[in-house]
Amino acid sequence: MSTLATTVNGLQLPNPFVIASGPPGTNANVIGKAFDEGWGAVICKTVSLDASKVTNVQPRYARLRSRESNEIYGWENIELISDRPFETWLDEFKQVKDKYPDGVLIASIMEEFNKDAWQEIVGRCEEAGVDALELNMSCPHGLPERQMGAAMGENPAILEEVCGWVMEVAKLPVWVKMTPNVTHIEDPTRASLRAGCNGIAAINTIRSVLGVDLETLRPEPTVEGYTTPGGYSCQAVMPIALRMCMEIAIVIRDEFPGRTLSGIGGIETGRDAAQFLLLGCDTVQVCTGVMKRGYRCVQPMKEQLLEFMAQHQFETLEDFKGHSLQYFTTHADLVVKQAEARAAKKAEHDKKKMIQADADWDGDDFVDQSDALARG
Ligand SMILES: Cc1cc2nc3c(=O)[nH]c(=O)nc-3n(C[C@H](O)[C@H](O)[C@H](O)COP(=O)(O)O)c2cc1C
Repeated sequence: MSTLATTVNGLQLPNPFVIASGPPGTNANVIGKAFDEGWGAVICKTVSLDASKVTNVQPRYARLRSRESNEIYGWENIELISDRPFETWLDEFKQVKDKYPDGVLIASIMEEFNKDAWQEIVGRCEEAGVDALELNMSCPHGLPERQMGAAMGENPAILEEVCGWVMEVAKLPVWVKMTPNVTHIEDPTRASLRAGCNGIAAINTIRSVLGVDLETLRPEPTVEGYTTPGGYSCQAVMPIALRMCMEIAIVIRDEFPGRTLSGIGGIETGRDAAQFLLLGCDTVQVCTGVMKRGYRCVQPMKEQLLEFMAQHQFETLEDFKGHSLQYFTTHADLVVKQAEARAAKKAEHDKKKMIQADADWDGDDFVDQSDALARG
């Protein structure tokens, strides 16, 4: 009987489906709902020590729909981190852990470029009883003047320093959430892992402009007639997320064995999840999928992943984690492999045409075989 249960950085998860930081983990009430519906772990909406500086606007989402089916496949947001007071969050972490002692609760945290602030937020979240930490180094909009989020994650040297501050004091597993808005995702990955962090989570949203309204001529989402670039998520980003996870997984496999990877970006089905796991992820996170389908979507996702495992006789996630990484190579090598395959096919074909004895004549290649005998 196959199992979805998995242990990641010592955390025991009943399944690899994790609520990603965002609206689906925005207070104790909805976090409880996620555990009730069977999610493997929950990462809260990103918290910071001083929420008074966080002011959201409305509307803050814009969505892209398929021309044919009208289904939403792209989603831009200009939402900031949590605007709820840090003390409220600490109370709610305790409440959640009292009610769900076995539920894996991960605090997503973000701070300015300030060692004391980072070490304080780590210590206070740990005291409140969370099971692990995810460092949000990747929020693509808002607060850049405070050097928070992606402003930090885009710079490997700063990232390594900040991760080092965290690792000086952290007692729990620490994941670092990557921004995809960089040319080489391997660089911030190496910086975080060199600093001693236990895992990588990727990707956060992709910096985007969702579109321009052709009636009003205003870009979306429009706030008092204006907008600002936001973060793109949902099904449309999955190929980019898969590529980045593949690149991160290769760095982990070759340079930092034992560190973990949590894949994020457009995951809505168990078959989507299977692809991230095949490319080396230990867990998968879902944000926009829950906003589209509700917390219950985890049930069919779990069933679909188990069906995939049964089809291939995989009993545990470990049986196929990273299996498909071996099929990546360079383009130059693809050219060599194709030339070799074609030459082998031609040799086989030529061999088939050779008549050594009358029994070799074959109805399908009759004309070619006759021709070959004429050529000698
Ligand atoms: C509305 C919204 C709010 C988000 N807020 C956060 C956040 O506070 N912290 C964070 O690390 N990621 C945040 N994210 C990013 C998601 O966790 C996730 O990395 C991204 O959306 C890609 O996954 P998805 O396609 O499953 O949504 C947010 C995403 C959305 C759509």
